Amino acid sequence: MASSGNAQTPIEARIADHLDHLRASIDLRDERVTIPGSDVSLLVTRPADTDALLDRAASDPEQNLPYWAELWPSGIALAAAILADPNMVRGKPVLELGSGVGITAAIALAAGADLLATDYAPESLLLTRITALRHCGLEPRTMQLNWRQPSDDLLAGFPDGYPVVLAADVLYERRDIQPLLNLFDRIVAPDGVLWLAEPGRPPASIFLETASRQGWSFASSTWTGPWPDPGDADVVARVHQLRRR
Ligand SMILES: C[S@@+](CC[C@H](N)C(=O)[O-])C[C@H]1O[C@@H](n2cnc3c(N)ncnc32)[C@H](O)[C@@H]1O
Repeated sequence: MASSGNAQTPIEARIADHLDHLRASIDLRDERVTIPGSDVSLLVTRPADTDALLDRAASDPEQNLPYWAELWPSGIALAAAILADPNMVRGKPVLELGSGVGITAAIALAAGADLLATDYAPESLLLTRITALRHCGLEPRTMQLNWRQPSDDLLAGFPDGYPVVLAADVLYERRDIQPLLNLFDRIVAPDGVLWLAEPGRPPASIFLETASRQGWSFASSTWTGPWPDPGDADVVARVHQLRRR
């Protein structure tokens, strides 16, 4: 019997399944994002109205705002750094903290990372899966995680930490500086590298000064876009490679 021309591929079916879960509670829209310094672009699904998500944050005991719903220069800059040097992740176990809509995750997976993406927000983890499936037909493993109370499950299979940890724009609240210093100390393997992208917010500067005093050295690159949001035109995102001295 001839097959229908509308049959979904397994990847399309998986994307549709994730989209159905999200659409039950969120209006979504699609946006194409180009990675600076490359001709690579990704189709990204994200909430149509981030203001509508703010009401939910009011009942969140952690009072986390829905920053996972936005397109941040740091995540795009970290994706650009991976595109420029895919060997930083290729064939390696990689852990990402705060995956947002999944731009960094999709580029890391396409580069050959064995990726575990984590975020506080379950919606972020579904969007991350969708972005990755659309970009390269692969899904990362995902884990819901609060980096202020990290589960030991994060280190299952990697008791000494991961060779590569990715984190883009995770240092925007002072309350997170110490928990993230503590967590990076546990989750980055002794000879591992933390790729930290940030757009110059004060908590990130305090974090880097403290990390430097605690034995981490870092080398940095800067990325100036262009970024999807015209309001970010002046943002300079820095991508730091932190290693223990
Ligand atoms: C500013 S967004 C950056 C997202 C993405 N990395 C990017 O650059 O586009 C911060 C991300 O961290 C997540 N996040 C915030 N607080 C967290 C926490 N306590 N534990 C885990 N994830 C958290 C948010 O849900 C969001 O996805």
